[in-house]
Amino acid sequence: MDIGVIIAVITAFCAVLYIQIFLQKKKMQVSMESVLITGASSGLGRAMALQMAPLVTKLYITGRSRERLAVVANECRVLAPNTTVVEIIADLSILSPTDPSGVRALTTAVGDEPLDCLVLNAGISSHDSAATVPLEDTRRVFAVNTFGPIALTQALLPSLEMSPCPRVVVVSSIQGLVPTPRRSAYSASKHALHGFFGALQIEQPRVRVTMACPGWLDTDLRKSSLTSSPGAKPKNSGRAMAPEACAKVIIDGVLKQKRQVIVPGWFRCVVWARMVAPGLLGRAMAVVYGLKK
Ligand SMILES: NC(=O)c1ccc[n+]([C@@H]2O[C@H](COP(=O)([O-])OP(=O)(O)OC[C@H]3O[C@@H](n4cnc5c(N)ncnc54)[C@H](OP(=O)(O)O)[C@@H]3O)[C@@H](O)[C@H]2O)c1
Repeated sequence: MDIGVIIAVITAFCAVLYIQIFLQKKKMQVSMESVLITGASSGLGRAMALQMAPLVTKLYITGRSRERLAVVANECRVLAPNTTVVEIIADLSILSPTDPSGVRALTTAVGDEPLDCLVLNAGISSHDSAATVPLEDTRRVFAVNTFGPIALTQALLPSLEMSPCPRVVVVSSIQGLVPTPRRSAYSASKHALHGFFGALQIEQPRVRVTMACPGWLDTDLRKSSLTSSPGAKPKNSGRAMAPEACAKVIIDGVLKQKRQVIVPGWFRCVVWARMVAPGLLGRAMAVVYGLKK
C-alpha cells in the first residue's frame, strides 16, 4: 500500500480518537447541581449521599425512617455546609397503580426546578427458592425494587429534561445480570430494571443511564429481607464490600457517564461466564449455593 495512504488513514484515526476524547472530557465537565437519592437512610444510599453532598448544591435524600434520614442529613450538612440538603420521608413501593403517594411527595419537593441526577437506590431483598417464594413477597419486592423506580423516573422525567446533562443511576445488583438461586424474586426484580432502563436509554439518549451492579455489600439489606423460611437468610459474609468503597466506584462511573458499573470489577468474569457458558456457570452456582454436592 502507498505510504501516503497509510499516513492518511493513521492521521484520520488519530483525529477521530482525539475528537472522541475531547467530547468525552467536555461531557465530564458538566457538573451536577442537584441530585436526588432514594433509600439514603442507610447502607449504600447513605454512603452515596455523604460522598455526593460536597459535589452538588442541592441534595434530596429520601427514606421511610425519619430518624435515620435526619442523622444522614446532618452528616451531609457537616461535610458540605454550602449544600442544601432536603429530607423527604416517603414510601416508594408501588403495590397498585393508585398508590403513587410516595412518588408525589418527591415530585412536589423537586417542584419545577431542574434535576441533574436521579439515583434509584431504595430496595429490599428476598431469600426464597423459585419453587416456593410466596407470590405476595414477589409482589412486594417488585413494588419497591421495580415499580417504584419506574414510577419515580416517569414522574421526574420533566425535571430531568430541564437539566443540561440529565443522569439516572439505577442501583441494580450483580443478581440483576446473573440469575441467582434462592434469590429468585430479588434477582427477577433487578433483571426487570435492565430491560426497562435499557429501553429508556434508547428512547431518550440525552438522559444518561448508569446501571450500577454491586456484588455483596456490608449493609442491613439481609436483615429486612423477606423470606418464608427465616433460617434461609445468610449472615453477612466477611467478603462483603464496604458500602463506602462501592459508592466511590459508582460515583466515579457516573461522572464518567459509564453505562454499567460492576463492583467489584472481577464480577465481570461471572457476567461473561453467563454469556458464554450459562450451563457451566449454573452448575457451579448450584454447588456454591449448596444445592449440589
Ligand atoms: N447489600 C447488598 O449486598 C447489595 C448488593 C447489590 C445491590 N444492592 C442494592 O443496593 C441498594 C441499597 O441497599 P443496601 O444494601 O444499602 O440496603 P439497606 O441498608 O437496607 O438500604 C435500603 C434503603 O432502601 C430504603 N427503602 C426500603 N424500602 C423502601 C420503601 N418501601 N420506600 C422507600 N425506601 C425504602 C431504606 O430506607 P427506609 O428503611 O428508611 O425506608 C434504605 O435506606 C438496594 O437497591 C439493593 O438491592 C445491595
